[in-house]
Amino acid sequence: MRQLTNKIALITGASAGIGRATALALAREGCRTILVGRRVDRLEKLKKEIENSYQQEAYVLELDIRKKEDVLSKIKKLPANWQAVDILINNAGMAKGISKMQDSNVDDWDTMIDTNVKGLLYVTYAIVPGMIERGRGDIVHLGSIAGHEVYPGGNIYCATKHAVHAIEKALRIDVVDTPLRVSSIDPGMVETEFSEVRLGDKEKAKAVYQGLKPLTGADIAELIVFVVTRPAHVQIGEMTVFPTAQASAMVAHRTK
Ligand SMILES: NC(=O)c1ccc[n+]([C@@H]2O[C@H](COP(=O)([O-])OP(=O)(O)OC[C@H]3O[C@@H](n4cnc5c(N)ncnc54)[C@H](OP(=O)(O)O)[C@@H]3O)[C@@H](O)[C@H]2O)c1
Repeated sequence: MRQLTNKIALITGASAGIGRATALALAREGCRTILVGRRVDRLEKLKKEIENSYQQEAYVLELDIRKKEDVLSKIKKLPANWQAVDILINNAGMAKGISKMQDSNVDDWDTMIDTNVKGLLYVTYAIVPGMIERGRGDIVHLGSIAGHEVYPGGNIYCATKHAVHAIEKALRIDVVDTPLRVSSIDPGMVETEFSEVRLGDKEKAKAVYQGLKPLTGADIAELIVFVVTRPAHVQIGEMTVFPTAQASAMVAHRTK
């Protein structure tokens, strides 16, 4: 197994859900973590938690990944001892709304495409050349079952997650002659702030997970640790993961 001690991991969307859990898990395994997101108060709290729980260094990078110039300049200007990112977790992402395409708020489309596709690309572009130069690096995308299937109300979110898959496969081709590895974790239902962001309502968000035991951010974080600790010659491609009570995007078993 590859050891993670003193590796630098940059996690986008570390202020909540899967990203937060992943930052904690990677720090626990010995990584120095760069915590990326817009809600800097939460990132500062997480940094303290990492320092106290794991005696590991963490660095807070306030960044809206939709802002191309900010992404490129802020990553370039990271302090010298944080520059050599070994592990990139492209996690920041979101869904907005569940309307039919013809009834949607078009601004929501822009938000999803700008975050899930363009933001992910900007961060990747800012980090991958350095990984190639250093001859090492793992890139893990947070895809989704929405990147494999399309479901009612999923339209543009599903399109962005299909795009994440295409980007993941394309990048794997583009770096095949390097030691870099490119992977995607594609979950079904994970209880985070995702549904609250999507539906804009706490109660409606709770109902999404009613009657079944959803995955947690920590479940996904453990898979990410697995992916980045495989021996150097082993590259995980795509990994789908569901709660046991979910079989596909549309099929879930709920108890009353
Ligand atoms: N939950 C699920 O059921 C599920 C299933 C499959 C895939 N996923 C994917 O998993 C990833 C993480 O989602 P989650 O469930 O952990 O949701 P979450 O709890 O809502 O967390 C989303 C994270 O993304 C960050 N983010 C959003 N827009 C950003 C921006 N413009 N710039 C920087 N950071 C931004 C948020 O931070 P700030 O608001 O502080 O910026 C937050 O930390 C997403 O890509 C999502 O599509 C989730």
